[in-house]
Amino acid sequence: MFKANAHEDIDLRSRTDPKKRDQMQNNMKSSSSLSSNSEWNSELSFRTLKNGKCEIADEDRFDCARDRALSKAACEERGCCYIPLPQSRFGGPPWCFYPPSYPGYRMGPLAPTPRGQAANLTRPVPSYLPGDISVLQMEVMAETAGRLHIAIRDPLSPRYEVPLPVDKPREGFDVQNALYSIEFQPHPFGFIVRRKSNGRVLLNTTVGPLLFADQYLQLSTSLASSVVSGLGEHYTPLVLDLNWTSVTLWNRDMAPHGSANLYGSHPFYLVQEGDGQAYGVFLLNSNAMEVVLQPTPALTWITTGGILDLYIFLGPDPHMVIQQYHRVIGYPMMPPYWSLGFHLCRWGYTSTNATRAVVQQMRQAKFPLDVQWNDLDYADKRRVFTFDPLRFGDLPQMVREFHQQGLKYVLILDPGISSTSPPGTYKPFDEGQRRGVFIKNSTGQTLIGKVWPGPTAFPDFTNPQTRSWWEDCIRDFYERVPVDGLWIDMNEPASFVQGSVDGCPDTDLEKPPFVPGVIGGQLNSGTLCMSSLQNFSTHYNLHNLYGLTEAVATHSALLKVRGTRPFVLSRSSFPGLGRFSGHWTGDVRSDWEQLRYSIPAVLLFGLYGVPLVGADVCGFGGDTTEELCVRWTQLGAFYPFMRNHNDRPNAPQEPYVFGQEAQAAMRNATMLRYSLLPFLYTLFHYAHTSAHTVARALFVEFPFDPHCQTIDRQFLWGSSLLISPVLEQGTVEVAAYLPAGTWYSLHSGQPYYSKGQYLVLPASLDTINVHVREGHIIPQQVPALTTAVSRTNPFLLTVALSSEGWAKGELFWDDGESLDTFERADYSRVIFIVSPSKLVSEPVILNGALDGLVVSEVRVFGVPTPPTAVWANGQKVKDFTYHSETRLFTVSGLALPMTEVFTVQWSL
Ligand code: NOJ
Repeated sequence: MFKANAHEDIDLRSRTDPKKRDQMQNNMKSSSSLSSNSEWNSELSFRTLKNGKCEIADEDRFDCARDRALSKAACEERGCCYIPLPQSRFGGPPWCFYPPSYPGYRMGPLAPTPRGQAANLTRPVPSYLPGDISVLQMEVMAETAGRLHIAIRDPLSPRYEVPLPVDKPREGFDVQNALYSIEFQPHPFGFIVRRKSNGRVLLNTTVGPLLFADQYLQLSTSLASSVVSGLGEHYTPLVLDLNWTSVTLWNRDMAPHGSANLYGSHPFYLVQEGDGQAYGVFLLNSNAMEVVLQPTPALTWITTGGILDLYIFLGPDPHMVIQQYHRVIGYPMMPPYWSLGFHLCRWGYTSTNATRAVVQQMRQAKFPLDVQWNDLDYADKRRVFTFDPLRFGDLPQMVREFHQQGLKYVLILDPGISSTSPPGTYKPFDEGQRRGVFIKNSTGQTLIGKVWPGPTAFPDFTNPQTRSWWEDCIRDFYERVPVDGLWIDMNEPASFVQGSVDGCPDTDLEKPPFVPGVIGGQLNSGTLCMSSLQNFSTHYNLHNLYGLTEAVATHSALLKVRGTRPFVLSRSSFPGLGRFSGHWTGDVRSDWEQLRYSIPAVLLFGLYGVPLVGADVCGFGGDTTEELCVRWTQLGAFYPFMRNHNDRPNAPQEPYVFGQEAQAAMRNATMLRYSLLPFLYTLFHYAHTSAHTVARALFVEFPFDPHCQTIDRQFLWGSSLLISPVLEQGTVEVAAYLPAGTWYSLHSGQPYYSKGQYLVLPASLDTINVHVREGHIIPQQVPALTTAVSRTNPFLLTVALSSEGWAKGELFWDDGESLDTFERADYSRVIFIVSPSKLVSEPVILNGALDGLVVSEVRVFGVPTPPTAVWANGQKVKDFTYHSETRLFTVSGLALPMTEVFTVQWSL
C-alpha cells in the first residue's frame, strides 16, 4: 500500500476527455470574472466596514498571530491590525488580525494539465514566516459531479504527501453536471466554491491570506453555516462550537476529555447548509494541525507540513457527502459476524483460570458472550508475542476450550517491542533488529522509547520489511495461540518518555516555529522524536499515520495467517482506518457525562468511515455503579461494536456481578441486540458496499427536519430503528424526538404518531426505548448465548406498516467470516415486501448459508382491525393473535424456509 513515491499514490489523473476539459476550463474562466475587490466583498457579504481598513466586525477577524503572541508593534510590522478587545486575548476574537486584501500570493493564468488545470501562485513579498515558499502550483481537478479536488504544492521541490491510496476519478464525467463552480481572486489569491444550483458560497478562501512556509501552512475559509461536524478525534458533541474554539489534530494517548487532542486525526468536516443540503471538506494532510473555528462562520486550517490537498464534496445531501468522502478514503471492511456479538474484557484477568472463571460465570448467568479478551496480563514481562509461563502457561489450551464452546478470543498487541531482553531470548526484537524494521533516531540507531515492558523499539510499518516481520511474529504466535482477532493499542504511538530515552535533538522538527495546542505542549510529548526516521519519511510527517499503518499490517497478517475475514480493533486512527479495523473510544471514565458523549463519538466515527465502533461499556476508568452500568449496557447494545472493558483497580463490572434486577435488564438489552444482529449485519453490508452509515445521526436520515440538525442523544440504526437511551442518573423517562411519521415501540408495537416532536417516554431501569419507523421490516433471529448458535435459530420478521399498509426490508446473509463474499457473489439476499395485508419474502440472490433457516414468526405493527383469517403460502394458519390496544398482530408457529419465496396473508 505504501509506495516510496508519494506522487504515485496521490496521482489522481483525470480521465476526462480533452473536449470536456475545455468546457470545464471555460466554465471556470467564465465564473472567475470578478473584477474588483469591493465587488468581491459585497458579493460575499464579507462584513468589512467602510471607514478604515481595520474596522472589521469582531467575528470576521482572522488571526494574524496564530504562530506566536505579538505586541502591537510586532503585529503592525506584519502589516496587520492591532485592536485590543475587552475580552481576554485568548478564547475570543484576535487582537492582531489581517486587514482585507492582506498581501499574499498572486495567481498566474490557468493552464490545462492531464488532471484538470493548474496555475502558479507567486508571492512578490515574502510572508512573515520562516521558510516561506514563494512559488506554488495550484491544481484544480473536477473529479466527479460531486467532488472537486484542489491541491497546492511546491512545484520546485517536492514535499511530503500522505501516502494514502485515494480513489481515482472515473472516466466519462460531464463537467456540465458538476454541482459546483469555482471562481478565483487573482490577487491576493483566493478561491470561492459555490453550489451551482443556488449560488451558495461553500468555501471562500479570500477571507484570510494563504500562507505556505516549510513548517506552517494556513488557509482560511468561510463556512456556509454554523452547523459543522467532524475534525475529530475530540470529546465533543456532534456539532462543533464555533465560538472562537480550536481543535488540534495530533494522535495522542489521552483519556477523552474536553479540548484535548485524542487518539485519532480526521481532517474532515461536514456542514449542514440549513435547507437539507450539506457539503464536506477533507484536507488530506497528516502533519500536526490546528483548526481554528470562529463565528463568522469560518475556519482556518493551520498545518505544520506537507501540502494543501483539499477535497470538496457537494452531496447534495449529508448521506451523499459521506459517501463521496468514503469513496476517496475507502469504504469500510465487512466485519466477521461474530464481532457483532458481546465482547468482554478487563485489564486484570490475571491468569487463564481467572479468565476461564469469567467465561463460566457469564455462562451460568446466561449472558450472551461471543468474544473473551485478555489485556496485557497474558504477556510474559509485558512483552508482546509471549505469554507468561506461570499464570498463562496453558493459554493455548484455554483458547481451544473457548473455541469448543463456540467463543472467539482476542488479545491485545502493543507496537512497542521490548529491547532489553538478553540477546537470543526474545525473537521479535532480535529478528526485528536483524531485519532493520524499527524506527531509527536521527543518527540512524534504533530509537528506544518506554512503554509497559520498559525500554522498547517501535516497528516502522511504512517499511515493507516490517510488514513481513510483523506477519512472521503473528504467525509464530498464532501457531501456539490461535487468536481470532487482534486489539492494537498504544499505537499513537504512545511512549512514557518524551521522544526517546535519550531525548531528541534540538531541531526545527522537534520545535517547529508553530506548535498546535497539543497536550503536553510539544509534538514529541508522550510519543517519539519528530526527527526519528521511518522508511517513507520522518516521524514528524508520519506520526498521525502510525496506527493506520499498523492496522494495515495487522489486517494483512491476520488474513494471511488465518485465511478468514480479519478482526482488528485500533485505538489510533486516520482516514482510511475503517477499511482495515474497528475502533473503540479509549479510556472513557465510568460516569454519566462520558456515557452521554459516547453517542456523538460513535456517530462521528461513522462519518469518518469507521462504522465498527463503540465505547467501553460501563466505562473504563474509575468504579462504575449498578445503575450506570445498566444504562451503559442498554446503550452499548446499540453501539455497532459492544465491549465491556474495565481498568485494573476498579470495582468489577461484568454483568453477573450486579443484583438480579440489574442483571435482568442487562441480559434483556444484550439479548435484544442478539435478536437484531441479522439487521445489523445487513447494515454493515451496506456500509461496506455503499458507504451507508450504520449508527446514523438523525440529520443524515432527516436532513430537511431542522430539529434533527444537532440531535446526538439519540441515533438510528440505518434508516429504520430509532434508539433513545437514558443518559442521566435516576431518570426513568426520556424526552425523545420522533421525526414526523409513525414510530412503533419495538417492544410492544405501540404506535406513536409524530408531527416531528419531542415525546416523553417511560424508561424504567429495565427498558431502552427503541422505535421502528413506519414502512420498514426488520429481520431478527431468536437470540442465543453466542452468534454461532443464534445464526442457526429461526428468523422473526418485525413489520412496521406505513399508514397505507406498506413496508419493506431486506437481509444480507453469508457464512459470516469468509473474505469478500459480496465481491465473489457468495452470499444471499432476501427482500421482504408487505403490500396491504400480504407479506412476500423472496430470496433474490441465493448462494448458500441460508439452507435450513426458517422464519417462525411475523409481527405486524399498525394493523388497524383484527384479522379474521391467516394463510401462509395459501395454507390456513391458526396460531395468530391481535392486540387491539397496540394494533399488534402476530403470526407464530411458522416454519417457512428462507431459501424459498413465501407469503403470509391476512384478511381484514
Ligand atoms: C490503554 C488502553 O486504552 C486500555 O484499554 C488498556 O486496558 C490499557 N492500555 C492496558 O493495555
